[in-house]
Amino acid sequence: MTISTFLKTSAAIIAVSGFATSAMAQNVEVLHWWTSGGEAAAVGVLKDDLATKGFGWDDMPIAGGGGSDAMTVLRARVVAGDAPTAAQMLGFDIKDWAGTTGKLGNLNAVAERDGWDAVIPEALQEFSKYDGVWIAAPVNVHSTNWVWINKSALDAVGGKAPESWDELIVVLDAMKANGITPLAHGGQAWQDATIFDAVVMGIGADFYQAAFIDLDPAALGGADMVKAFERMAKLRSYVDDNFSGRDWNLASAMVIEGTAGMQMMGDWAKGEFLKAGQVPGEDFICIRFPGTQGKVTFNSDQFVMFDQGGASEAQLAMAASVMDPVFQSAFNVVKGSVPARTDVPNTDFDDCGKKGMADFAEANANGGLYGSMAHGHANPAAIKNAIYDVVTAHFNGEYDSVTAAAELVDAVEIAR
Ligand code: BGC
Repeated sequence: MTISTFLKTSAAIIAVSGFATSAMAQNVEVLHWWTSGGEAAAVGVLKDDLATKGFGWDDMPIAGGGGSDAMTVLRARVVAGDAPTAAQMLGFDIKDWAGTTGKLGNLNAVAERDGWDAVIPEALQEFSKYDGVWIAAPVNVHSTNWVWINKSALDAVGGKAPESWDELIVVLDAMKANGITPLAHGGQAWQDATIFDAVVMGIGADFYQAAFIDLDPAALGGADMVKAFERMAKLRSYVDDNFSGRDWNLASAMVIEGTAGMQMMGDWAKGEFLKAGQVPGEDFICIRFPGTQGKVTFNSDQFVMFDQGGASEAQLAMAASVMDPVFQSAFNVVKGSVPARTDVPNTDFDDCGKKGMADFAEANANGGLYGSMAHGHANPAAIKNAIYDVVTAHFNGEYDSVTAAAELVDAVEIAR
């Protein structure tokens, strides 16, 4: 069966079966990579919401930001004929699954009933629809160009948040002089790549577009890319000796405890600060990576549903639940992300969340929204992984910056 035949068939099954969210003795098995303290708290919001509708939760957590490890496990399970009910998925992975396997369920019936078209920005629909059919339910929007700074550590170096690359270096140097680790980082490829998103955007939005979205060899291997790698090498000099392999949430903990000054990480990091009882503006501050103000390198966590001989009641109820505006507020307040819907009030969000929502709305209106390379919204996994390899090899000192830029051109060319 082709994907479009499958989508049409499952739409028909959904239409006749109905999808009232009545209590049913069914469980949803959900594959995801939300394993840190803050992430688990957000999963709890989803689990509790489904429980009120009568659905149980079978957890299938596979740690690792960006979801590479989760996608490996998912593929093995689907090949073995044992797909979970639903899976967390990002950007181009959704497109790949929709295009090649024909195993994703058609959510059109619920999307049409609940008017998703009118409230989900085009930039997200790009990944939620395939051949005009809704195949994923976007639960949020994260972005990668954020910096999380310990407020006391910043106050100890003058209290002014950096707004440019040069100001950032001044603050990092001053934190170093104060005897703390200036930059909390975990040496894992996806974390290196997350910083790289922001560093490349900091050099210019046109450059980000040319390098990561258009994959223009002149941008991938040119002088601006050498400059981006030099900035990565500079940032590497502010990391402690034990960074290798450290989980991202342990790096967040260093900032929370004040043994480190800042972390450059997507806004899921805010979930860790909140979980630790910290308050934005009092204990920590959130800023856009210096030089990227007004730009948003985004990724959206979406749930895809796997065919279970037509979409099940539980799958449709889950899709409807994650798109409910009240749920989108409750979940994203805890998760650190912003709602995928444009009609959710910001009332319950803290200052960082309000800023995230305003930044996203502004970027969406002004063309300042760019898919995150690190989190699968710029290219298919093969290209993303090729970029990861070069960025990490350079971060670990295997390549100098000129070599890294040349390697990037080759790696992307081979992966294409
Ligand atoms: C996901 C976030 C998650 C983060 C770290 C990102 O790829 O979009 O939801 O919190 O990885 O696990």
